[in-house]
Amino acid sequence: MPIISPSLLASDFANLQSEVEMINNSTADWFHVDVMDGSFVPNISFGLPSIKAVAKHATKPLDVHLMIVNPDQYISAFKAAGADYLTVHYEACTHLHRTIQAIKAEGMKAGVALNPHTPVHVLEEVINDLDLVLIMSVNPGFGGQSFIEAAIEKTRKLKALITEKGAPTLIEIDGGVNTETGARLVAAGADALVAGSFVFKSKNPAATIEDLKKL
Ligand code: DX5
Ligand code: ZN
Repeated sequence: MPIISPSLLASDFANLQSEVEMINNSTADWFHVDVMDGSFVPNISFGLPSIKAVAKHATKPLDVHLMIVNPDQYISAFKAAGADYLTVHYEACTHLHRTIQAIKAEGMKAGVALNPHTPVHVLEEVINDLDLVLIMSVNPGFGGQSFIEAAIEKTRKLKALITEKGAPTLIEIDGGVNTETGARLVAAGADALVAGSFVFKSKNPAATIEDLKKL
């Protein structure tokens, strides 16, 4: 059974508390929180005060996905806001090793996200330090995009690298996940699935979460 991390980006921001409670009462495992700065990605989402508001009501870990430049500048601020997993983009970090250590030093789990064009092998030297790798199966910045097929083969390659290195790292996939793509991702080695529009645009989000959980 995969870890399910519904993406709040697709939720109703004006009713955030009830959306958070729906996830609390569902079989979801984490809250996926997308932070966009309008620079690393061509969109702006929510920031620290909104994460604090979510953390106040959430009874499950916050899986925070930073799509921002200079993430190092905000690591302690995201810890203070309530992040449990903090994922930075490989493409946004010149000194990735240092960034990973800084996240762990704050007592958070450290994740690295890969854009669709970034190969898995760039993480060879740091994989044993990572709690999570987030494979982007869309170009980051927007919900509701269609799934990039190459993510399946990429998941297999990452699984092979993790096994070869004996690393403790979880594989999470983000973008265009539904029960069809999700089933193939789990078969390829994915441990965790992010789902935004598939969950929140469905008639019964809690039942949709349960469908993903059963994959
Ligand atoms: C995209 C975000 C995703 C997004 C996924 O940049 O990282 O987490 O919410 O949305 P769906 O599941 O609709 O593709
Ligand atoms: Zn995300």
